[in-house]
Amino acid sequence: MSTSAWQHLDHGDAPVVDIHGLWTVFANDKGEQVVHRDLQLTIERGEILSLVGGSGTGKTVLLRQILGLEHPTRGEVRVLGTPPNALSAKGAAVVGMLFQHGALFSAFNVIDNIAFPLRELKLLPEELVIDAALVKLQMVGLAPEHAYKMPADLSGGMIKRVALARALIMDPPLLLLDEPTAGLDPAASDSFCDLLRGLHRELGLTVVMVTHDLDTLLDLSTRIAVLADQKVIVAGTADEVTRFDHPFIHDYFLGGRGQRAMLALKDMKAPTLPASRGSLPPEGAPAALGRPGGGGTASPEKDD
Ligand SMILES: Nc1ncnc2c1ncn2[C@@H]1O[C@H](COP(=O)(O)OP(=O)(O)OP(=O)(O)O)[C@@H](O)[C@H]1O
Ligand SMILES: [Mg+2]
Repeated sequence: MSTSAWQHLDHGDAPVVDIHGLWTVFANDKGEQVVHRDLQLTIERGEILSLVGGSGTGKTVLLRQILGLEHPTRGEVRVLGTPPNALSAKGAAVVGMLFQHGALFSAFNVIDNIAFPLRELKLLPEELVIDAALVKLQMVGLAPEHAYKMPADLSGGMIKRVALARALIMDPPLLLLDEPTAGLDPAASDSFCDLLRGLHRELGLTVVMVTHDLDTLLDLSTRIAVLADQKVIVAGTADEVTRFDHPFIHDYFLGGRGQRAMLALKDMKAPTLPASRGSLPPEGAPAALGRPGGGGTASPEKDD
């Protein structure tokens, strides 16, 4: 059995993610909290779209809606042209997600964590499940000797890698990353970005990433979408986004840290959209400044 059960659903013409007129309203003690108000966002094949916004602006909620774990109050979310819950009802693992807080099962070892979604399906014999999990372990740059370690015995960088391997176990075309480098030191963070860049290129993934980290954002994104005032106020290249006049953008990109990160753009190694998928970003976009190469899937494992 191929785990890529989504392929028959992909007719190649729909955007990977298409969000229209999305409202999210939560009831709370004070009445109602409108988190998203008429939000629109379209994500094409091969993009690494980074979602930035202040804390509590609804980035994680939006990822969970794309994953089909939550439903908007109003409006439409489509993944490859189909509502996310309809995709999962068809057993198609179209979306893999790296959750904000790592979320490994502490009572399971590495290989059982990675294998978990595949085992749930009960479609493969056990030895094939283990083989598939070992392939993913190697893909994220970890040696087989780590397979039977418990999460408590792993470094922060290794936990992220195991969580990434689990997100990729079903070979999804779309990967959602919620704060993938949060809590990692700069070296581990760079190494994880290299890994993501390599996987994006080699697997032809579309990636939606939430990050507060400017280095990660500028290092990896082919496009940046800014969530503020309950909607996506601007989506574009780093240059386009920073030209948009808004207090959040001013504080985030044009403060001291932002300025330094923007200057470092010249040295960045951002990925490019695969030539056969979607359109290339405009000239001068961060992706076009990319240093060819970058990390590979078999990047040497580090004790990060
Ligand atoms: N199930 C829920 N019920 C009620 N309120 C919720 C629920 N889920 C999220 N919220 C609220 O929605 C808002 C957005 O939450 P969300 O977790 O998406 O923020 P975020 O942008 O990811 O923030 P951070 O950057 O801190 O992770 C928050 O105010 C949160 O308290
Ligand atoms: Mg969040």
